[in-house]
Amino acid sequence: MQITVFGASGGVGSRVVAEALSRGHRVRAVSRDASRLSDLPAGVDVRSGDVSDPDQVARLSADSDVVISATRPEPGREHELPEVAAALVEGLSRNGTRLLVVGGAASLTVPGTGKTLGEQPDFPAELLPIAEGCNRQLAVFRTAAVQSDGGPVDWAYLSPAALLEPGTRTGAYRLGTDHLITDDEGNSAISMEDLAVVLLDEAETPEHHRTRFTAGY
Ligand SMILES: NC(=O)c1ccc[n+]([C@@H]2O[C@H](COP(=O)([O-])OP(=O)(O)OC[C@H]3O[C@@H](n4cnc5c(N)ncnc54)[C@H](OP(=O)(O)O)[C@@H]3O)[C@@H](O)[C@H]2O)c1
Repeated sequence: MQITVFGASGGVGSRVVAEALSRGHRVRAVSRDASRLSDLPAGVDVRSGDVSDPDQVARLSADSDVVISATRPEPGREHELPEVAAALVEGLSRNGTRLLVVGGAASLTVPGTGKTLGEQPDFPAELLPIAEGCNRQLAVFRTAAVQSDGGPVDWAYLSPAALLEPGTRTGAYRLGTDHLITDDEGNSAISMEDLAVVLLDEAETPEHHRTRFTAGY
């Protein structure tokens, strides 16, 4: 497959690039500053691009089978997340390329509480802006999906488990829909490496269309 990765210089995006290359896919890696991607192997199509610009989204994805977007705004700019979502929808509606978006966990319902992770009393206050931004980002995709014939873009929005950090690639994970995945002790986690596995598995074998899904251990 030909895969465009937005956010390729980031924690998740860099692991998506590595996972895609390990599976033999052709990768276009995008950063706002391509010099940040100078360490990638020869053969990776390294480009500069801004995912908040629909024209750039369309141009950088025109010949791709799927776009994987794992961008994250700088602190204080979380309000830009819905704008980025709208740019992805508009840009990809021009060429019909499938979209996998990495979002946030805060909108997942915590089992046994009837409330979302972001509504829990111990949810960190410093994460509220990104949680709110991710909620509004997801709403943009869902709004697009209720348009006639399901909307112009075949998207899927992946909410990670609560704890998403660099770690190891196990290749093992569980999938869910709108509920936070936890282990027997109530911990919710997945490594960035395994989130990349989830994304590449979904890219190769699409199971989720115009919906949110989640993954954890
Ligand atoms: N448990 C959770 O819910 C959880 C935890 C962590 C992360 N996440 C989500 O996972 C995703 C990825 O997070 P991360 O930790 O990998 O982020 P990160 O390391 O901060 O990387 C994000 C990348 O986004 C790129 N970027 C930002 N704005 C852009 C724009 N307008 N156009 C193009 N690229 C842009 C930046 O690349 P350049 O500066 O090179 O352009 C940056 O490298 C985010 O959606 C984040 O909310 C969720």
